[in-house]
Amino acid sequence: MKKMLVTGGAGFIGSNFVHYTLKNHPDYQVTVIDKLTYAGNPANLSAVLDKIEFVTGDICDAELIDRLVADTDIVVHFAAESHNDNSLKDPYPFVETNIIGTFRILEAVRNHGKRLHHISTDEVFGDLELDDPNRFKETTPYNPSSPYSATKAGSDHLVRAWIRSFGVQATISNCSNNYGPFQHVEKFIPRQITEILEDRQPKLYGTGENVRDWIHVDDHNSAVHLIIEKGKIGDTYIIGADNDHTNNKMVIEMILELMGKPRDWYEHVNDRPGHDLRYAMDSSKLHSELGWEPQFTDNNGMERGLQETIDWYKANPDWWKPQKAETEAKYKAAGH
Ligand code: NAD
Ligand code: DAU
Repeated sequence: MKKMLVTGGAGFIGSNFVHYTLKNHPDYQVTVIDKLTYAGNPANLSAVLDKIEFVTGDICDAELIDRLVADTDIVVHFAAESHNDNSLKDPYPFVETNIIGTFRILEAVRNHGKRLHHISTDEVFGDLELDDPNRFKETTPYNPSSPYSATKAGSDHLVRAWIRSFGVQATISNCSNNYGPFQHVEKFIPRQITEILEDRQPKLYGTGENVRDWIHVDDHNSAVHLIIEKGKIGDTYIIGADNDHTNNKMVIEMILELMGKPRDWYEHVNDRPGHDLRYAMDSSKLHSELGWEPQFTDNNGMERGLQETIDWYKANPDWWKPQKAETEAKYKAAGH
């Protein structure tokens, strides 16, 4: 058995990654470290708690991280403060977890000579104009807009510096917007699904012409496993499933239609300051070098995944209801 330490494994993508790993790669013995912030939920892992080791702790805790890393073969680093709107209200936890936390992980893998895969985001590249024919590539210069994306960019730079200066055995992936089960109701898609389930209108920021490139969380995680197994040490891989959609026409209207509501049953709310206009990914390196193929690609790329996600939120009100009122109160205070 190989040992794998998953940071942030009680969050949205990290918990889906743990489930995906146990199902598809049973040769890994998994340990999760998670601080259980507002975004971490042990219920995400309740079905597999007897198959993993779970440590409640902070990635900024150097002694704890050093001890856990010493006892693993590979670290897959998901832990982060992840929500742009929160970073506009209070950037401090973003600087602490995303930068200092990643620094602690890097020092530990350096000390113990362990393999690291660092999970990052397309937001490090900034945004594209609506009519720009380009898509983000591994070589696109960094130009982050928000405190969240700036701290993720900082963490990527640290990883590259530790690879080059200290020979740390690491890879990086930059992925586009994920959707799927266990995603916190603060995020766009679960917020709209649960608003409709509570008989309120979805909330669209600004004009809604913003474009995001959506990927099902299982497709993100299959790519991460390929990079862990076959990726070139020191390299970066873009992960995207070519599902660029405007927030209004495609995503909100698709959700409304799948949930049996009129396509125009949504309201406009205040825009996000500094709101990135468009993300689009070119994942040809992942396809050509590692042979990755996303699975959620039928019916204009999102309908099956979105329907399964809607069904999951319908079937799991006990999971999302406890977070919902507090999240909406925060949004209301910000005019969203
Ligand atoms: P999330 O907010 O759902 O989960 C983050 C997890 O990290 C939570 O369980 C939280 O408790 C934990 N955590 C936070 N601070 C911690 C600390 N100091 N120590 C230990 N644990 C801590 O986030 P997510 O959407 O699952 O994102 C996971 C990773 O993927 C992040 O690095 C994010 O930048 C990246 N990413 C996310 C997306 C997306 O669409 N959500 C896309 C690309 C990349
Ligand atoms: O691109 C990858 C990034 O995707 C990740 O790095 C982040 O961790 C993740 O949160 C996500 O960032 P976004 O800011 O793109 O996602 P969010 O779900 O917050 O918003 C998606 C789009 O929807 C964005 O254009 C803002 C808009 N939006 C969001 C909310 C919550 C709305 O129109 N209405 C809303 O209620």
